[in-house]
Amino acid sequence: MINSLAKLLVAVAMAGTLTACGRGEEIAACGEDESAADAPAEAASPIKLTAGIQDIMLDMIDPSADFLWESVSVTETAQGVEEKQPRTDEEWAEVRKHAIILAEAANLILMEGRHVAREGKVLGDHGTPGNLTAEEAEKAIAADRATYEGFGQALHDVGVAFLEAAEERNPKAIMDAGETMDQVCEGCHLKFWYPGQKIPAFPDQAPEAH
Ligand code: HEC
Repeated sequence: MINSLAKLLVAVAMAGTLTACGRGEEIAACGEDESAADAPAEAASPIKLTAGIQDIMLDMIDPSADFLWESVSVTETAQGVEEKQPRTDEEWAEVRKHAIILAEAANLILMEGRHVAREGKVLGDHGTPGNLTAEEAEKAIAADRATYEGFGQALHDVGVAFLEAAEERNPKAIMDAGETMDQVCEGCHLKFWYPGQKIPAFPDQAPEAH
């Protein structure tokens, strides 16, 4: 925090010097100031990564996915068929909100430099037989980033399918997107989280690829 504030203040001070150059100060000195001011601006990204992929799964993707999966259902009871679906403006707005969270969280997990576990923290099923540790998952992702990105993009696209279904107020499209989402979550986890588990493989997932 303090460090970046200091950098910011230096940058502001340099910008002040450049303005002074523009007003006709000595040319040679102006050239030097310009290159010094440009360099840090190019090197530094404004983005600061805080959460691990695990945190984004636990706090954004999982709750939103659950909300979307549960938003439409058909249950047969002794009293007859019970159809659950969003009906009011507020209920559809909630579906839309979770679709937005899901689609954009899918982008967050694809960001370069994002670790599986938040620095120094490990969540969840660490040590469960058959499951990869955060470190192993990170290695598996690095070894086949294209597949990881493919699943991440599929998750984004399913978020968009939910978004469009919410905007059209189409419960059938919500259910269809729910089925696709199930396969996308499972497919990525089977490859990058619990390859040791005996779960029917996602069509894309050749067992020997593990
Ligand atoms: C692009 C790949 C990918 C997709 C798609 C994906 N996940 Fe994950 N998920 C991971 C990885 C990687 C981990 C961490 C595995 C580890 O810790 O070893 C994880 C972990 C989790 C966890 C455990 C978090 C914890 O407590 O450690 C949950 C819950 C989860 N995912 C839910 C979901 C759900 C629900 C979906 C679908 C809506 C989904 N994930 C889609 C890659 C993915």
